[in-house]
Amino acid sequence: MRVNVIGLGYIGLPTALMLAAEGTEVVGTDINQSIVDKLNEGSVGFEEKGLQELFVKAKQNNIIFTTKYEKADIYIVAVPTPYLKKDKKVDASYVKNAVDLVLDVCGNGAIIVIESTISPGTIDKQIRPLVRNHEKVNDIHLAHAPERIIPGSMVYELEHNNRTIGADEESIGEEIKKLYRTFCKGEITVTNIRTAEMTKVVENTYRDINIAFANELAKICRTDGLDIYEIIRIANMHPRVNILSPGPGVGGHCISVDPWFLVGDYPGLANIILAARKINDSMPEYVLERISEIMDDNGIDSASRVGLYGLTYKENVDDVRESPALQILECMKRHLARGVKVYDPYIHKNIVKNQYQDYMEFLNDVDMVVVMVGHDHMIRNMELLNGKVVLDTRNVCNRIDVYKL
Ligand SMILES: NC(=O)c1ccc[n+]([C@@H]2O[C@H](COP(=O)([O-])OP(=O)(O)OC[C@H]3O[C@@H](n4cnc5c(N)ncnc54)[C@H](O)[C@@H]3O)[C@@H](O)[C@H]2O)c1
Repeated sequence: MRVNVIGLGYIGLPTALMLAAEGTEVVGTDINQSIVDKLNEGSVGFEEKGLQELFVKAKQNNIIFTTKYEKADIYIVAVPTPYLKKDKKVDASYVKNAVDLVLDVCGNGAIIVIESTISPGTIDKQIRPLVRNHEKVNDIHLAHAPERIIPGSMVYELEHNNRTIGADEESIGEEIKKLYRTFCKGEITVTNIRTAEMTKVVENTYRDINIAFANELAKICRTDGLDIYEIIRIANMHPRVNILSPGPGVGGHCISVDPWFLVGDYPGLANIILAARKINDSMPEYVLERISEIMDDNGIDSASRVGLYGLTYKENVDDVRESPALQILECMKRHLARGVKVYDPYIHKNIVKNQYQDYMEFLNDVDMVVVMVGHDHMIRNMELLNGKVVLDTRNVCNRIDVYKL
């Protein structure tokens, strides 16, 4: 069994390594030459617990990294699926491009598994026609195996999460299940493609709505001087209540993106989903208002004395995609409030203005710290925030005098 994994980013790379480490013959393909070069030089490219060890095991089992698509029995496509800004529908162009290139090299009978998150109906409407109209190959099977792993715990979750596989025929579903079973200890459900597509988007939308509820409650509680965290803590003691935490906004490549697919595809029907998206997208602006209030309270009159701690979209990862901190910096630009300082221990290259690489220098240059991300690094060094005005948007600081959302 030979597998060609297409796209070696946050999802494709760990998947390719996991398969290879467990003995499958794997070729990993990415169109980005520098990603392939780095992998061939021995660097995995991003920080993730257990990834380097997995890389070593996969290399021992002769995994290949290349920019070329290769002949294989199964293709796993893990390329980006952003949404189109104009109508909020899924942008399936990367997936279509990848499938086209697979069809040029694959033989009859190959299976193409789309791992990328796609909106319900994408395979039928946009991918199946490519396969049907291709002249050279026939008997190609399509499947969907969406991924649920979370950055920061990817290797563990690859092994332990339950998975969903959507296929046209049960026998194909079972064949793919056998492949994932080489490393996955979780339950693997085989269903049809449209159900698998919808299920994945529904999972992320559920979390987005739950977070929006928490964010709305945070705003309500603020107007009445109530402690939202205490209220959620007590409410969650109810056996059937599980409210997630409020925060400075929702970032990342999944929760802030996938609900838009439903809004785009079901306009007029996806009402709670749209409202939740708007609430979560309003949070960076809300944090900005809190910063301004707290600056006034403390006589801080210049944004240059304010520092954002954390640029990533969640704790202990180096992924900044759609991050609330970047959204706040954008808002500040619009409000002509420039000069805010920034520090993130996971971002070793300066990607925004006034970004520091040294934590102490950063702290020396600010009077107020806005905790945007609860990295362990900050929690371990909490005492360094003594003497600073702190706005903690993640509820991770244990000092009683910190400001909250
Ligand atoms: N990152 C996550 O936490 C996460 C979790 C679950 C699902 N997903 C989904 O997985 C998919 C991939 O996400 P990601 O985070 O790995 O993206 P990514 O941007 O980290 O990686 C995608 C890779 O695909 C490569 N690529 C693009 N077009 C290609 C092509 N035609 N041929 C070969 N390589 C190509 C890019 O160079 C890039 O390295 C998306 O649909 C995403 O929604 C992501």
